[in-house]
Amino acid sequence: MAVERTLSIIKPDAVAKNVIGQIYSRFEQAGLKIVAAKMLHLSQEKAEGFYAEHKERPFFKDLVAFMTSGPVVVSVLDGENAVIAHRDLMGATNPKEAAAGTIRADFAETIDENAVHGSDSPESAAREVAYFFADEEVCPRTR
Ligand code: PPS
Repeated sequence: MAVERTLSIIKPDAVAKNVIGQIYSRFEQAGLKIVAAKMLHLSQEKAEGFYAEHKERPFFKDLVAFMTSGPVVVSVLDGENAVIAHRDLMGATNPKEAAAGTIRADFAETIDENAVHGSDSPESAAREVAYFFADEEVCPRTR
C-alpha cells in the first residue's frame, strides 16, 4: 500500500458547529496522521484560486462565498492510501447521499455546506498541499 498525503479542509459550517475535534478523532482513529495544520479565514482571492477548476460552474460564486464566510482548518493527513481513506471518511459530496457514519452524514445537511473537503487524487493532493503549506510547514511522519 502507498503511504501518501492528502489535503483536508474543515469548512466554516463544521468549525461553527464546534466539531473540529470530533472530525480530527475520526482521522486519527482511521490511522491518518495530522502532519500539518492551520486555522485561517480564506480571502476571496485565495478561495477563488483554490476552486479555480470550478469557476464556470453555476455554484462557484456561492461556494466561494461560503468558504470565505468564516474560519476553516486546513490540514495535511499522511497515511496508507490517505486520499481514498480520507474520502471514505468524508462520505458523498451531498450529505443526503452520504453513507451513515461518515463525516458529511453526521455533521452536514446540504451540498453547499458540506463540512469537509478532501483531495480527489494524489496529484490534486500535491497541488493542494503546496497551495496552503510551505515544505517546511509539513512535518515528517512519526511512527
Ligand atoms: S467534481 O466534478 O466531482 O469535481 O465536483 P464536485 O466534487 O461535485 O464539487 C466540487 C466542489 O463544489 C462543491 N459543490 C457545491 N457547492 C455549492 N453548491 C453546490 N450545488 C455544489 N455542488 C458541489 C463541492 O462540495 C466540492 O467542494 P469540495 O470543497 O471539493 O468538497
